Amino acid sequence: MSTELRSRPAASGPAAGAGHAPRWRSSIGLKIIMAVSGIALVGFIVAHMAGNLHVFEGPERMNEYAEGLRTFGEPLLPRESLLWAMRLGLIAAAAAHIASSVALTRRASRARPVKYASRKAARGEAAHAAATMRWGAIVIAAFVVWHLLDLTFRAVNPVKDVPDAYGAVVATFAPERWPVTVFYLAALVALGFHLRHGIWSAVQTIAGPSAVWRRRWRAAALVTAVTVVAGFAAVPLAVSFGLVS
Ligand code: HEM
Repeated sequence: MSTELRSRPAASGPAAGAGHAPRWRSSIGLKIIMAVSGIALVGFIVAHMAGNLHVFEGPERMNEYAEGLRTFGEPLLPRESLLWAMRLGLIAAAAAHIASSVALTRRASRARPVKYASRKAARGEAAHAAATMRWGAIVIAAFVVWHLLDLTFRAVNPVKDVPDAYGAVVATFAPERWPVTVFYLAALVALGFHLRHGIWSAVQTIAGPSAVWRRRWRAAALVTAVTVVAGFAAVPLAVSFGLVS
């Protein structure tokens, strides 16, 4: 999240991972857990965004794709087994990502027992990025809860028929449900900022000190974030404006 993967001097004391604490609990260990779980989540997000674009091929192709997620691995494996493996992997990655970020934030505030004298003093670029990442994470978490109730469990979606993924997408972004569309778009903007900063933070170790490579990685993070946001946003916008119905 907001913290860079590059090794900074660790906070002193046992909480900082020194002494007898296991290696994964050191600051660098936690940052690696955060980066690796973040990369797994980005992989899911990119694949999900690309999969959603089947909506533009019509109901048959979209519903075939949604059913394909459930039958993937058959007949070798039981129905939905790979889907459940992916779900468990996603839950584990999200839990590791959140837990490591909370641990690192706590550690950082313990390392600064004397608070900044004024809020203004705390407002550097890094502090701003940290706040953006924290608020972004809260918005994304709220979005995911709504999204699961909407398109997976269908509790807040007018279409209850699970195999009809296309119908559910069209129903949720119907023009009269514009607040839902606005909420999705706002969450996507938060996701975009989170991805840009998160990807950049995670690759800083690889980027090294070369200014050229740092610029390239920063650009790659921005391009990934913009592509993901645009790819996801295309679906609600197309339904809202009647291009998909
Ligand atoms: C406008 C953008 C999006 C659309 C149209 C969309 C569409 C869908 C649909 C149709 C499903 C149900 C698939 C099925 O069960 O057949 C789904 C599931 C899901 N979506 Fe999205 N999604 C969007 C954005 C996102 C974003 C940004 C995230 C993550 C940050 C996300 C995370 C998930 C998750 C975790 C599931 C449950 C997967 C499962 O366990 O089956 N979605 N989405």
